Amino acid sequence: MCIEKINFKEKFAIFGNPVSHTQSPLIHKLFSQQIGIPYSYTRELVAVKKFEEELDLFFRSGGKGANITLPFKELAYKKVHQITERAELSGSINTIKKINNNRLLGDNTDGAGLLFDLERLNFIKRGMHILLIGAGGASSGVIPVLLNYGCHITLTNRTFRKAEIFIKRFLSIGDISLLKMEFINTPKYDLVINATSCSITGDIPAISHKIFNKKTFCYDMFYSFNKTSFLEFAKENGVLKCADGIGMLVSQAAFSVKLWYGILPDIRFVLHKIKNIRKSYK
Ligand code: ATR
Repeated sequence: MCIEKINFKEKFAIFGNPVSHTQSPLIHKLFSQQIGIPYSYTRELVAVKKFEEELDLFFRSGGKGANITLPFKELAYKKVHQITERAELSGSINTIKKINNNRLLGDNTDGAGLLFDLERLNFIKRGMHILLIGAGGASSGVIPVLLNYGCHITLTNRTFRKAEIFIKRFLSIGDISLLKMEFINTPKYDLVINATSCSITGDIPAISHKIFNKKTFCYDMFYSFNKTSFLEFAKENGVLKCADGIGMLVSQAAFSVKLWYGILPDIRFVLHKIKNIRKSYK
């Protein structure tokens, strides 16, 4: 009997709402070509109440791994059977891998992705003082990594009460403190990171422009085709070195591949390609 070789690709997907804007399928297509493993990667728009059901269905029907984006990162944390240490520290996950006996392993590659990108840009050194704006899912993934790297963090958030609760789980990891936005008005921070979702709507956090000067590094974890509203604000106020989150996006995706296949793809190469594609759309 001749057994035909079935050329099936292992299935991966990103779950979120919204997900139409995500560049992840393109990034994974480039990674798949680069590492020579032909996996498929789709985007799954999921109704908020259907997340768990859809995720179960995906893994029951052969899914090997997934990325999780807004607003499901914390929900996914509760859903997996096992978690990595860095995911546990952040309290949220962005990557799932199916392991033995149909169990799901949850990881968070956001912090590793951000750190890789900040190092690539020469925006970070151990001991730096970082102002981190935002106390939501985006910042929870990166705080443990930045603290473990040896940076000092001042955290601020529009809703101070929320930040007071949020910060508690990070206090034992490293040097992090909380300050109300209205009291932040000097350029004493080496690096300012915007981890709010403001840039999605073109808003900027209500923070003084006095936090910036020409020596400040500024990073917006959000990315867009044009300069984000937060980076415009920083540039208008003297910042010379700023970057959006496209490098973090590519890097966190690469660390997901590392979890799934044990191979870290060449981040710089794919980032270069994505940037060229972005330019050609402009
Ligand atoms: P996530 O799902 O990532 O956790 P979130 O909890 O809505 O999303 O957090 C988004 C972050 O962006 C929060 O820090 C939010 O501030 P609040 O906690 O005060 O809501 C912040 N954010 C969103 N829009 C903002 C705005 N217009 N100005 C300042 N901060 C804003």
